[in-house]
Amino acid sequence: MSQQQTLPAAATLEYTPEVARATAGLAARVRAVIPPIEWPLHAPYVAAIGEWKRRRHAVVLAHNYQTPEIFHGVADFCGDSLALAQFGAGTDAEVIVLAGVHFMAETAKILSPEKTVLIPDLRAGCSLAASITGADVRLLRQRYPGVPVVTYVNTSAEVKAESDICCTSANAVAVVESLGVPRVIFLPDEYLGRYVAGQTAVEVILWRGHCEVHERFTAAEVREFRAGHPGIQVLAHPECPPEVLAEADFVGSTAAMIRHVGESRPRRVVMVTECSMSDNVAVEFPDVEFIRPCALCPHMKRITLPKILHALQAMEHRVELDAETSGRARRALERMLAVGRREPRERREWVERERPERQEIAR
Ligand code: 13P
Ligand code: SF4
Repeated sequence: MSQQQTLPAAATLEYTPEVARATAGLAARVRAVIPPIEWPLHAPYVAAIGEWKRRRHAVVLAHNYQTPEIFHGVADFCGDSLALAQFGAGTDAEVIVLAGVHFMAETAKILSPEKTVLIPDLRAGCSLAASITGADVRLLRQRYPGVPVVTYVNTSAEVKAESDICCTSANAVAVVESLGVPRVIFLPDEYLGRYVAGQTAVEVILWRGHCEVHERFTAAEVREFRAGHPGIQVLAHPECPPEVLAEADFVGSTAAMIRHVGESRPRRVVMVTECSMSDNVAVEFPDVEFIRPCALCPHMKRITLPKILHALQAMEHRVELDAETSGRARRALERMLAVGRREPRERREWVERERPERQEIAR
C-alpha cells in the first residue's frame, strides 16, 4: 500500500465514542487548562498521533513551551533544551518528531545523525538563532584571537560548528568555567551572557542577540505582579533583561523553574517566560495559583497537533545536515553534554556581584 493510501483524511478525524473513551483519563487530567468544550477538537488528533507513532516507531519530544494538548497529550518526553538534547543523544527510537523550534530539531539530528528527525513546521525559528551566522563567529575569532567561543544552543548548526563548546541556560556558568580561561566570547544572547558574567570571574565578550519574547518583560511589570498579588514568587528565565532578573526571586532554565515550583510549593507564582509553561506546570500543581502574563513565542506556536500528525504521516520535514558541519557542531555539543546540568539550587545574589568591567559587547 502506498503511503498516500494509508493517510487518514482530516475529515475522518472524528470525536467518536471510542476516541472519547480512549482519551477520557487525559481529558480529566488537563481539564484545568483545556476546557472540556475544547477537548473534542484535540482528542481525535491525540488518538491518531498515538497510532502513527506506533506505526513509525517514533517519539515526540516537546519543549516546555508547547501547548498543553501537545505537552500532556502526545509528547513521549518533555523538557528544557538541555533535556531534549540529552534525550536526543540517547533514544533508540527510529524517528524523532521535535515539537519545538528548528535549532532543537537540528540539535537532535546532530546528536543522532542515523535517525530521522522531523520538524512539523520549518518556519519554527528563533530570534536568537537568527541573530548570528557562522561568518560572524569567524570574524569574532579574528578580532579576539585565541579566545574560546561558548555558544548558546539557540543557534544554527553552522554557528555551533564554529564554536568550541555549547551551553544551555541550565549549565551556562558551569560551561564557561569548565574552560579554565580568563575570557570567553559568549554568543549570541546578551542577557544570558550578562547573567553568566554576574556569577563568574571569567570575563565575557557579548553579542547583541535577544529573545524576542523575553526582552519584552520589564521591571515595572514585575513590580506590578508583586503589588497586585501579595506573597507572589517571581521566577524568571535568564533570557530576560538584567533589570527584570534583578526583581526576581529565582532565575533559571525552564526546567529549573518547574523544579523550583515542585520543591518550594509557593501559594502563588508568576513565571516570567513563555506563557504555555504555566499551563503545563499548573496541571501538575493544582494547589499553586499561577499568575499568567501572556508572552507567546510565535515560533513555538507554529507547532500544532495537525502538523505533528502530518509530520508522521508524510515523514516531513526531515532535518538534513552536511556531514562536515554536523560533525564539528557535534563536538561542541558533546563537550557541553560532558559538563551536564549544573544550575544553582538557591537564589543567586548575582546582581550585587555584577561586574560591568568584565563585560564587553563585540563590535
Ligand atoms: P530552556 O533551555 O530554559 O528550556 O530555554 C529555551 C528557550 O528557548 C527559552 O526561550
Ligand atoms: Fe527563541 Fe525566545 Fe522563542 Fe525561546 S522563546 S525559541 S529564545 S524566540
